Amino acid sequence: MNQPVMNGVTAVEAPSYVKHQKLISWVAEIAALTKPDSIYWCDGSEEEYNRLCALMVEGGTMKKLNPEKRPNSYLACSDPSDVARVEDRTFICTDNKEDAGPTNNWMAPAEMRATMNGLFDGAMRGRTMYVVPFSMGPLGSPIAHIGVELSDSPYVAVNMRIMTRMGRAVYEVLGSDGEFVPCVHTVGAPLEPGQKDVAWPCNPTKYIVHYPQTREIWSYGSGYGGNALLGKKCFALRIASNMGREEGWLAEHMLILGVENPEGKKHYVAAAFPSACGKTNFAMLIPPAGFEGWKVTTIGDDIAWIKPGADGRLYAINPEAGYFGVAPGTNSDTNYNCMASLKDNTIFTNVALTDDGDVWWEGMTKEPPAHLIDWQGKDWTPAIGKETGRKAAHPNARFTVSATSNPVLDPSWDDPAGVPISAFIFGGRRSTTVPLVTEARDWVEGVYMAATMGSETTAAATGQQGVVRRDPFAMLPFAGYNMSEYFQHWLEIGEKLSATGATLPRIYCVNWFRTDENGRFVWPGFGDNMRVLKWMLERIEGKASEGVEHLFGVTPRYEDMHWDGLEFGRDKYEKITSIDNSAWEDELKLHSELFDKLKHKLPPALEAAKGKLEQRLKA
Ligand code: GTP
Ligand code: SPV
Ligand code: MN
Repeated sequence: MNQPVMNGVTAVEAPSYVKHQKLISWVAEIAALTKPDSIYWCDGSEEEYNRLCALMVEGGTMKKLNPEKRPNSYLACSDPSDVARVEDRTFICTDNKEDAGPTNNWMAPAEMRATMNGLFDGAMRGRTMYVVPFSMGPLGSPIAHIGVELSDSPYVAVNMRIMTRMGRAVYEVLGSDGEFVPCVHTVGAPLEPGQKDVAWPCNPTKYIVHYPQTREIWSYGSGYGGNALLGKKCFALRIASNMGREEGWLAEHMLILGVENPEGKKHYVAAAFPSACGKTNFAMLIPPAGFEGWKVTTIGDDIAWIKPGADGRLYAINPEAGYFGVAPGTNSDTNYNCMASLKDNTIFTNVALTDDGDVWWEGMTKEPPAHLIDWQGKDWTPAIGKETGRKAAHPNARFTVSATSNPVLDPSWDDPAGVPISAFIFGGRRSTTVPLVTEARDWVEGVYMAATMGSETTAAATGQQGVVRRDPFAMLPFAGYNMSEYFQHWLEIGEKLSATGATLPRIYCVNWFRTDENGRFVWPGFGDNMRVLKWMLERIEGKASEGVEHLFGVTPRYEDMHWDGLEFGRDKYEKITSIDNSAWEDELKLHSELFDKLKHKLPPALEAAKGKLEQRLKA
């Protein structure tokens, strides 16, 4: 590309509608460092989306699916080494290590910048650098924040168009001096002249780097999900949690749903479950038989920005515009709404390809097709699967789809004012110990429950799966500052709201994942989670019974739950709600371990809550 060089920095030509000199200079600076062959300014148009997808089909990154089966949809298959978030390669770079806290990887900003400058030098050679302007939250809304991602991945550009409000209109909001979060991303695979590209370029070395003090993001070596779509976990959680702490609001790993009873009374609840623990499914829940007249609608499926309103209530928005959801396990029985969302205009990543040009994943149908091309491009048959244990779709295979494809999208889903939250729900994946549902007796106890939540690890992050780890607020990998200070921030928000005389949202702890002696889930889950939700709403409205008070909080009795349409005996219910004191003694040891790790700046109120729990356990 022919570009004049000024002062050692390549002068870039921006489209005439880009009026922001600082942004243009920054693009020039990053181009001078990364040395792409060309720079492309995304306008976010449909024509551009189609063109970039066609380019990737030509280059082998994506396959176009059969338009009769799955109109305007694509399948991308990643390199087998690049399939999930890399938590051990994710860094929070603050001047003081303690500001990142003991749960984050830390490096001093200057040292990290030197490393990054080395890695990014020439990293985009032979590639196009895409300039991707995006808004997290409705364009121009006072609670939205703008980012610009520079990436050498067209896959990132098209995914960002679905996941965020991406395109030309962002520049109008930015004007000549608006604020934006600079996000720099490379797959770290420069091409020599004449070198043929691979289908999914990436680098074995990976760095996902955040500078909270200057609100910058640099990501190297991965093209997958949260590693590369920088508006999501990097911006909307790790950077935004820092913004929220400074400005008195919350950035959370939460779905937001609306639930309306047959009388037309509506509540919104927000729920934090760790990655691959059921947020998307809960957000699109279809009330089961026995719940005629109940309606559940989606505001968001992964991230919530929550701000105190003038009336003392908490208002939540979904900063995203699409869903990057887990494919395996999704089917028409467990989540009809999700399957309906995916009927067209979807990018699938790492699922299997059927012989008629459609997609398949484990759990999509009871019987797998007789033949597939698996996510690694190999022949797959049920026999091969059985013999080798190989999955047709990667367990962290995903779909990217616009929120507007969701048949139960809430009418207020992009209302800049947000929706008032009546309850917070926290839930992990626990095969033992944690009951189906518990209500915290007060805000502090709820914060304690959330802070000490444990969950079995899933395929959403690289590393060992199925091991219980503490995942406070489902934010372990996403809190962009010291976790103890994050707890304090939650306590303070509670205090501030109570001081206004407002009623705080209730806090619940749930667990859909208790298993029996054969390792099977006892609770039917999915739509039947409505039963739990109904009990919560009755509690909020003061209609439900007392429930049973136990050491951990309040759990409904069997007769407090609405069982129409489901055969679920008392014995089974007992199995998933009973409190096993010896298991809880062990559990408390894990709480102690966590608090030990977080003891610096740990709020005394949480220590006190633990003390009370220990006492109840002894009694
Ligand atoms: P991230 O996008 O990684 O943050 O995940 P998520 O929290 O949105 O999880 P999702 O709803 O995609 O569910 C992950 C997996 O859990 C899928 O395989 C689902 O089928 C399964 N799942 C979701 N809800 C339930 C449930 O109520 N019971 C059971 N047994 N499985 C569930
Ligand atoms: C998660 O891991 O919680 C996700 C997927 O939602 S990713 O976008 O990869 O973070
Ligand atoms: Mn998530």
